[in-house]
Amino acid sequence: MQELEQFHQNNGKVINKQYPDLFDVQWLLEESQWPYFHLSALDKNPFKGMYHEAENLIDKFHSHRDDYGHGWKSLTLHGLDEDTQSLNSYGLERDEVLKQLDWTWVADKCPETKKFLTDVWPAEYLNRVRFMLLEPGGYIMPHQDRPDAEKRLSVCNISLNNPEGCVFVMKDQGIVPFKNDGSAFLMDISNVHSVWNRSDKPRIHMIIHSEIGRRARDFFYILRKSYYTNKDRLHEGLE
Ligand SMILES: [Fe+2]
Repeated sequence: MQELEQFHQNNGKVINKQYPDLFDVQWLLEESQWPYFHLSALDKNPFKGMYHEAENLIDKFHSHRDDYGHGWKSLTLHGLDEDTQSLNSYGLERDEVLKQLDWTWVADKCPETKKFLTDVWPAEYLNRVRFMLLEPGGYIMPHQDRPDAEKRLSVCNISLNNPEGCVFVMKDQGIVPFKNDGSAFLMDISNVHSVWNRSDKPRIHMIIHSEIGRRARDFFYILRKSYYTNKDRLHEGLE
């Protein structure tokens, strides 16, 4: 617990980035070294409804990585089954695993969430999509999911809620400012990160791994709109 407390103490404030005047997609995703990026163009989606769909299934979640987490559970919407692990862990070629991915029964129970994933999320192909639950008092110890050499914004982490007292921090990068009303962030998980839910409410996020495919244009415009929105909000001191 001392390691966890120390990590959160050292990294426990939001650090705002300087936004260059002009949006440059290549710079943002590959060169900026930004640890996260708020997809604010997606802010108005029905994240509360999606939260309730996940919360209704709260007793179906499976324990996740209890080697470095406590009270951390997941439930797969799109994958091999409701408890899909990292796609590299099945001893098959990645292409073989990708071919077998499909919606699970969870998606059928969560129509609003499924509609977001098919109609709004700008990717042609979904890989693994999971609800991630962190129970009250739960935590995820500091860890790194991707080597330093693969620094880039990639996976999307959406807060369906983020109760006060639940904090996601990254080493030397501070707090990721997830909103309780729902917010989507692209993340660079080559940064060491940790989450601690010091609230009395369950926290549910959704993690999307996907391939843009033929939705590049949609993805581009979401990035562009978000960039200028975030930049304006920073000037207003709102972000
Ligand atoms: Fe992680």
